[in-house]
Amino acid sequence: MMSKLKIMIINGPNLNMVGIREKHIYGNESYEDLKALLVSYGEEKNIEVVCRQSNHEGDLIDWIQELWFEDYDGAVINPGGYTHTSIALMDAVKAIAPLPVVEVHLSAVNEREEYRKVSYIREACLACYAGEGFNSYLKAIDRIREFCGK
Ligand code: DQA
Repeated sequence: MMSKLKIMIINGPNLNMVGIREKHIYGNESYEDLKALLVSYGEEKNIEVVCRQSNHEGDLIDWIQELWFEDYDGAVINPGGYTHTSIALMDAVKAIAPLPVVEVHLSAVNEREEYRKVSYIREACLACYAGEGFNSYLKAIDRIREFCGK
């Protein structure tokens, strides 16, 4: 039997407020709903899905490093506002190359304010899916499965 893929889903600042914050942009469903969807998708596809969320940049960097040391197959990251500001997050993803990390966003960041069009982490990531709500995460998981040949 093929070994199970192990993927971490990392959500950055304010993503725990989904379902409460700016519903016209981020939708009505909660962060708990997102976690339930990702875990059940993992069960369906035989993937171990580990969900993390923090409002602190350093936690996100620690978890990216953990991907390397704890033998993860890849990660999906929504860095929230740190997407547009953090060179440290980009460096962290570059440090664990070639481990696949896929950037995701609920909203269509490229169609919003100018400052949301900048993503430092993008150049270190395998792909980016944005503007499809929770489905952006499922596409990102599929991209990692494809990369890993599973
Ligand atoms: C976001 C987009 C970011 O610009 C914003 O700061 C977020 C959420 C998204 O998922 O659409 O917090 O990453």
